[in-house]
Amino acid sequence: MKIFLIGFMGSGKTTLGKLLADELKTSFIDLDERIEQDQGMSVSRIFGEKGEDFFRELEASVLRKIVSGKTDFVLACGGGTPCFHQNMAYMNGQGITVWLDTPREILAERLLSAPDQRPLISGLSGEQLISFISERLEQRAQWYGQARLVIDSSNFTIKEISRKLKAYA
Ligand code: S3P
Repeated sequence: MKIFLIGFMGSGKTTLGKLLADELKTSFIDLDERIEQDQGMSVSRIFGEKGEDFFRELEASVLRKIVSGKTDFVLACGGGTPCFHQNMAYMNGQGITVWLDTPREILAERLLSAPDQRPLISGLSGEQLISFISERLEQRAQWYGQARLVIDSSNFTIKEISRKLKAYA
């Protein structure tokens, strides 16, 4: 089973992905981490030195490399992955996409307290962050909304989520 976890920064894709992969006895892959390995530099540096367009192309190509090399995995995508280079349609054609639809207040709380590793929000104050999240979520809803499964992870246990996913397998 190929499971793609999508959702905004701070929605818990990595945390949930690791637990879910354990529960489903499959491997966990983090897309940003793979991109960093591929380039030998952090996502922040890639954005800073090569720009977002370069990052988005790389993201799309590393995504396709992962998918064609493996049959079973839980993949935590980056927050923007579904919104570029037809990635959402591609992922829907390859496996189960799951949107972690997390309330914006929770996202803001998590992102404010997280260390500054996210180039799109680095340097934003609390108020700026909240309006950034609201604007982006509105823009991104058209892609996130194409997910096969939508989960508010604060309302479900890992076991319940993996049971739902197994029903799709
Ligand atoms: C991004 C989210 C990040 C990372 C990059 C861009 C986005 O991933 O891919 O900084 O456009 O929302 P996380 O969602 O894992 O933080």
